[in-house]
Parts: sequence; structure tokens; C-alpha cells
Amino acid sequence: MWSRIRKLTTPNAVDTFKDKKLDIWLFNTSLSASTDDHIKLLSDDEQRRLTQFKHEENRHQFVVTRSMLRQLLGKKLGCSPSIIKFSYTKTGRPVISYPTTSLRFSVSHCSDITLYALAENTPIGIDIERDDKHIDPLAIAETVFCRREYECLESCDQILRNKMFYRIWTIKESVLKMLGTGFSMDPRSFCVDQVLNGENIINLQSKINTESLEKAKIIELEIDDQHTATLALAYS
Ligand SMILES: CC(C)(COP(=O)(O)OP(=O)(O)OC[C@H]1O[C@@H](n2cnc3c(N)ncnc32)[C@H](O)[C@@H]1OP(=O)(O)O)[C@@H](O)C(=O)NCCC(=O)NCCS
Repeated sequence: MWSRIRKLTTPNAVDTFKDKKLDIWLFNTSLSASTDDHIKLLSDDEQRRLTQFKHEENRHQFVVTRSMLRQLLGKKLGCSPSIIKFSYTKTGRPVISYPTTSLRFSVSHCSDITLYALAENTPIGIDIERDDKHIDPLAIAETVFCRREYECLESCDQILRNKMFYRIWTIKESVLKMLGTGFSMDPRSFCVDQVLNGENIINLQSKINTESLEKAKIIELEIDDQHTATLALAYS
């Protein structure tokens, strides 16, 4: 399984967040088999969760990605992957509850790739999407993007529009994960137009989480032509 995972070399991100000991890992899940050894690394709760998956594909993805997460965290924490305990916030964010640590992590899956971001002592969020050519970006944007993001998309020609859609989408999702709210927070309550103009600032349209958003640093990650990915860190 280790041959399917590589550390992302993102000079910007690694330099900016040197003191946060940032690691970003890219795991190619399509070629990884799930074995009993992987299942043994999972907690009782996680093994129970396995029985609830209706599709084998989803079950497979959970086994390989969760056991890989445990192995990456175990390496960083210097402990056995199976003794790590997770708890979940009210909004569903997983956090390490044992052993005691300041290490934070974020996970994002798409069909064939899972990204992991690990950092010390700072809220972090990561998101990856596989660029799908068969979507209607403007129709989706109408419901989840704010006005300026929608206008930015509208001004792109047809070819650029899909890419721009996924850039805005992954920036917003990475921020929602960094905040830990997921979609309990309205994605239209903040706007990413300044990030897209090269400024690493998120423009607030609401007072929610003002402080974390003002301190957020956004890094767009280079994966390949088929994927768009973003990292958000509440930097202080
Ligand atoms: C967490 C969320 C923000 C993203 O989920 P997603 O894009 O469907 O899936 P991803 O693979 O990128 O992320 C899933 C991971 O996020 C993490 N996660 C779940 N809830 C989280 C939260 N509240 N905060 C931070 N991380 C969270 C988990 O680690 C989860 O993986 P796991 O179950 O294997 O542990 C989810 O709340 C959601 O509802 N997404 C809906 C998509 C949408 O409408 N997006 C509009 C964009 S503008």
C-alpha cells in the first residue's frame, strides 16, 4: 500500500507553514486492495461502520483510506496505528482523542484519490474534486456560491468555466472543513473572490467565525489535469 502514497511537494505550502510541520499526502486508492490486515487496524466503531456500507466500493474505500490515515498519524505520533482514538464534533469533524496531541488533520476523498493534510496545532482543511465535464456549473453555483463568485464564473468562457467552478468549490469546502462546520454553515456566508484575484484573503459577508476566516491562508494544490484541490489553514 505504501507504493500508492506519496508526499506532495508543494514548495509554497511547505515553506509558508514550516513551523506547523505541514505534511500533505496523496493516496491513489484505485489500485489499493483492502486486506484483513487493514481491517485489523480499525477500531470497533469503524468496523461497525463497515457493516453499514451498501456498496462494496464504498466499503473498500473506507477500509483503505481509514487504515492509511491511522498509519500516517501513527508514524507522526510515534504510536501504533490501532491505538489511536477518534472522536467527532457535533458537526462531524473527526479529531484525535487519544493519544493526547496537538496534531490536527483533514481528509478529502474523490473517486480515485484521497488527500491527507497533517499540521501541528492549527485548524486545517483540505478538499479535492475530480473535474467532471458533465456538470452545469452555473446551475450548481446558483445555490451554493455567493453573488460575486457566481459573476466570476459567468464571466469565464465555456472552457475555463468548469475549472473555475472547481477552484471556487474546493476553496469553499477546504475553508468549511478548516472551520469544522461542514455544511452546517451556509457556503454563501463568505466569498472567495479575492483569493481568485491572487490575494490570500477571504472576503467576509457575515460575522460568523470572523477571526478564523481573517487568519485563513489558502493554498491551491497542483495535482494533475483531472483534479482540483485546495488547502486552508487558520494561520496565526
Ligand atoms: C465535510 C464536508 C464539507 C465535505 O464532504 P465531501 O466533500 O462530501 O467529502 P470529502 O471526502 O471531501 O470529505 C470527507 C471527510 O471530511 C471530514 N469531515 C466530515 N465532517 C467534517 C467537518 N464538519 N469538518 C471538517 N472535516 C469534516 C471527514 O474526515 C470525512 O472523511 P471520513 O469520513 O473518511 O473521515 C461535508 O460537510 C459536506 O456536506 N459536503 C457537501 C458538498 C457540497 O454541497 N459542497 C458545496 C461547495 S460550495
